[in-house]
Amino acid sequence: MNWFLLTAVLLNAHLAASSSLAAKQPPPARQLPPAAYLKTTYYQKSCPNLESIIHRRISYWVKRDYTLAAAIIRLHFHDCAVRGCDASVLLNHSGSERAAEASKTLRGFDVINDIKRAVEKQCPRTVSCADILTAAARDATLFVGGPFWEVPFGRKDGRISGAKEAEAVPQGYENVTSLLNFFDKLGLTFVDMVVLSGAHTIGRCTCHAIKRRLYNFTGNGKPDPSMNVNYLKLLRDQCKSDRNFVNLDATTPRVFDVDYYRNLWKKMGLLSTDQQLFSNPGTGGLVDVLARQPEFFLSQFAVSMVKLGNANVLVGQNQGEVRLKCDYVNY
Ligand code: HEM
Ligand SMILES: *[C@@H]1O[C@H](CO)[C@@H](O)[C@H](O)[C@H]1NC(C)=O
Ligand SMILES: *[C@@H]1O[C@H](CO)[C@@H](O)[C@H](O)[C@H]1NC(C)=O
Repeated sequence: MNWFLLTAVLLNAHLAASSSLAAKQPPPARQLPPAAYLKTTYYQKSCPNLESIIHRRISYWVKRDYTLAAAIIRLHFHDCAVRGCDASVLLNHSGSERAAEASKTLRGFDVINDIKRAVEKQCPRTVSCADILTAAARDATLFVGGPFWEVPFGRKDGRISGAKEAEAVPQGYENVTSLLNFFDKLGLTFVDMVVLSGAHTIGRCTCHAIKRRLYNFTGNGKPDPSMNVNYLKLLRDQCKSDRNFVNLDATTPRVFDVDYYRNLWKKMGLLSTDQQLFSNPGTGGLVDVLARQPEFFLSQFAVSMVKLGNANVLVGQNQGEVRLKCDYVNY
């Protein structure tokens, strides 16, 4: 593998992405990207209390069960990662995204249904489930000590959800190139990818998802050599059963900090994809910067979360619907 070449490619991709607007002249059509139609004031008249309802319900749930915060943030990522942020991950019919192997450990559906009920009481048939999930992820981040950001609203809920598409969401064994490809389709750069992976500063992972790393990484009966040996011992100990949980951030699992990145220095990333962000020369430099600059991590996390929430959104009159129940499309 020619790392220099990969770095050059990454850099070019980044430059191309940031200058693509300027390069296209004249602009081909007066068509704005869908996310440009989202507005922080979208529900100002139609549902003025929306954000306080969501805030209150998230507060209630996270106080009851701290781990739900991480679950909601991940649920939002998995929503946006498939068909854009359209609440397709919430649909509960046979063969939907929820039924996929890759969705097996998603949680927090009840929390979103609870918020939706509270919102429907005050603002019937007005607020999409996609918008509720997006704002819930913001508030969940806030409650575990992460940054605040303004949430643009106006997403519609999709009517299509398929398990097969959900299997494409990264599971932890992909290489950096395929991760970059995946994020690129969501309109996200390598900066967004490395920064958003910092969400793994909180939350947990089933042992099932990392088993191969512990015992049989490449099929040769050996563990992943890029893992700290003491950490490996600890994880083998904690993972007596596939259904056990281990922390994604080995040192400060309940704090929204940069220790996730600092652990990578010590070869203590839980997922292979986490550890590779450090060892890959295209992303390693940024990991280093984030590990050293907590303020930069927090401010960029806010920026990248807004971009994630913009991914392939449905906007406008004849796209999608405002679901009445988040589990089902409208009759
Ligand atoms: C870069 C690609 C990513 C990969 C490969 C990945 C993979 C994973 C895996 C395997 C788990 C554990 C699942 C289990 O319980 O078995 C997990 C959990 C989690 N992920 Fe990611 N993830 C990625 C990106 C993201 C992004 C972009 C976010 C949000 C911005 C995110 C937020 C979370 C959170 C908060 C958890 C903990 C969930 C909980 O405690 O229930 N991840 N991820
Ligand atoms: C989702 O669908 C399954 C199977 O039909 C059902 O058992 C479950 O209760 C549903 N979940 C919700 C939240 O409606
Ligand atoms: C990354 O993974 C993809 C998909 O499995 C594979 O086609 C590609 O060759 C891999 N790239 C590198 C650099 O290992």
